[in-house]
Amino acid sequence: MKSSFLMLGLAILMILATIYSFGRTNKNKHEQNTIETIFARKSVRSFLPQPIEEEKIELLLKAGMAAPSGKNLQPWEFIVVDDRATLDSMANELPYARWLKESPIAIIVCGDSLKSFYWYLDCAASAQNILLAAESLGLGAVWTATYPYEERMDVVKKYIDIPENISSLCIIPVGYPSSPLQSKDKWDPTKVHRNSW
Ligand SMILES: Cc1cc2nc3c(=O)[nH]c(=O)nc-3n(C[C@H](O)[C@H](O)[C@H](O)COP(=O)(O)O)c2cc1C
Repeated sequence: MKSSFLMLGLAILMILATIYSFGRTNKNKHEQNTIETIFARKSVRSFLPQPIEEEKIELLLKAGMAAPSGKNLQPWEFIVVDDRATLDSMANELPYARWLKESPIAIIVCGDSLKSFYWYLDCAASAQNILLAAESLGLGAVWTATYPYEERMDVVKKYIDIPENISSLCIIPVGYPSSPLQSKDKWDPTKVHRNSW
């Protein structure tokens, strides 16, 4: 009787230890994936003529809205452009965003200057989240700047009917990459200072 209690106790202990170590392994795996995505991200400027699944577009937008923002004001707004004529017209007028000619969609990250005077900082965090999410979903993307260039922001205003208080930070062409690309190794220990310069 005593030994069967002992056996039962041991069995319960083993089950608990297995559950605990499984949880830890999964957590580590998740953390590693995030780190891998950060280091694998690269700007992609050439795309296959392949549409992007709606679920993936929604995930990109959810990632954008998961970003941190000052006072949690979330001053961002997003415009998904999949109209070929609009993408082509913006590509023609924005040399630094000419990659829009090939991308099946673009996400324009905008901010509301009435909600926050530093909307562009919050929107930058949001844009980076979108770039990382694209990488992890097997998509390619690139930040093409509109802010702080008035003439580029005006091109967005011309094609997208946005209200006065809304400004665009960047246009992110997104698509399946036309060829595999390597990310750059930017690690530079001379840029790190500890306790004093
Ligand atoms: C604020 C900002 C503005 C950028 N503007 C443009 C742009 O207008 N057009 C473009 O093709 N890439 C643009 N880029 C992408 C950079 O050129 C790219 O991030 C840089 O060359 C490093 O390459 P990587 O993203 O592959 O690491 C921009 C990136 C940032 C963060």
